Amino acid sequence: MQVRHQTDRPLSDPRSARGTETALAIDAQGLGKRFGTLQALRDFSLVLRPGEALGLIGTNGAGKSTVLKLLQGLRSPDSGGGRIFGHPLGSHAAKQLVGITPQNADFPEQITPRELLGYAAGHFTRPKPMAELIAAFGLDRLIDRRMGGFSGGEKRRVALALAFVGNPSLVFLDEPTSGLDTVGQDLFRAYARAYADAGGSLLLTSHHWDEIEQVCDRIVMIDRGRQILEGTLRDIRRRAGRCRVSFALAEDAGRPAWLTRDFLLEAGRWQKVTADSDALVRFVLRELPDLRALQVTPLDLKDTIAELREEATA
Ligand SMILES: Nc1ncnc2c1ncn2[C@@H]1O[C@H](COP(=O)(O)OP(=O)(O)O)[C@@H](O)[C@H]1O
Ligand SMILES: [Mg+2]
Repeated sequence: MQVRHQTDRPLSDPRSARGTETALAIDAQGLGKRFGTLQALRDFSLVLRPGEALGLIGTNGAGKSTVLKLLQGLRSPDSGGGRIFGHPLGSHAAKQLVGITPQNADFPEQITPRELLGYAAGHFTRPKPMAELIAAFGLDRLIDRRMGGFSGGEKRRVALALAFVGNPSLVFLDEPTSGLDTVGQDLFRAYARAYADAGGSLLLTSHHWDEIEQVCDRIVMIDRGRQILEGTLRDIRRRAGRCRVSFALAEDAGRPAWLTRDFLLEAGRWQKVTADSDALVRFVLRELPDLRALQVTPLDLKDTIAELREEATA
């Protein structure tokens, strides 16, 4: 587990006075939030640099949306605080630089996406051209329809466009592709990655591992309000270095004791994760001459993180 601690910077710091070019996109320290008796978030710190895409992951109820709401200034922390490009959380200056997609977006039934996006664009000094948003989120056939009859996925496309309408320097996306079809997911992921490559900062929550892999540079994992894992994807892949060795056995094959003890039987295949797959392959080939369909596969991101998480919480 790595937690970065930085000292709080006063507003007079020249880095923040110079504006968005040099200040950190997010610099939050020691955030805590309690709902009644539930400590939803504790001592949570986060730094995000301009041009960085961060994935916030964790199970339902881990505290992801709470983090986003505190950083967006939609709720006040009980403890700690932070800055967005040098501006206090929730300040007008911070909001001008930020785009938001809430986890649940509902819109007035009578208005069209063009009206909604046009209205939102009016709040910003440098809004994105409508045509770019229409193309980016596949809104061509939706743009002039009233939103009353929109499906969940259609509303979500509009919500995503809304996050980017102000040409923001930082975008918060809470489960951006939940309910989206695969075309919508692919459009979003390509646009989000291009946005970060062009210098935009992104903080998204997601339960889709392929989305995290395609969009994010770094992940933070939280569990019951605490950060338990942090690292760049490149780092995490390097730390992994493990493989899963798996194979099938004939129905009537004997089951040696070491097999049932050390291997997991899943969907008809015996499997074990190991750092030395060469040795394990030699061993099982010698001991189980009738094994079939032997496979050695590197761990995917999901399994790698599960392993690292076990180490971090052990
Ligand atoms: N307004 C609220 N009132 C009471 N409990 C809340 C409220 N918002 C969130 N919680 C609780 O705080 C915990 C974290 O919630 P949340 O941040 O929404 O989790 P996540 O987004 O990771 O699923 C959950 O147990 C949730 O039920
Ligand atoms: Mg949530």
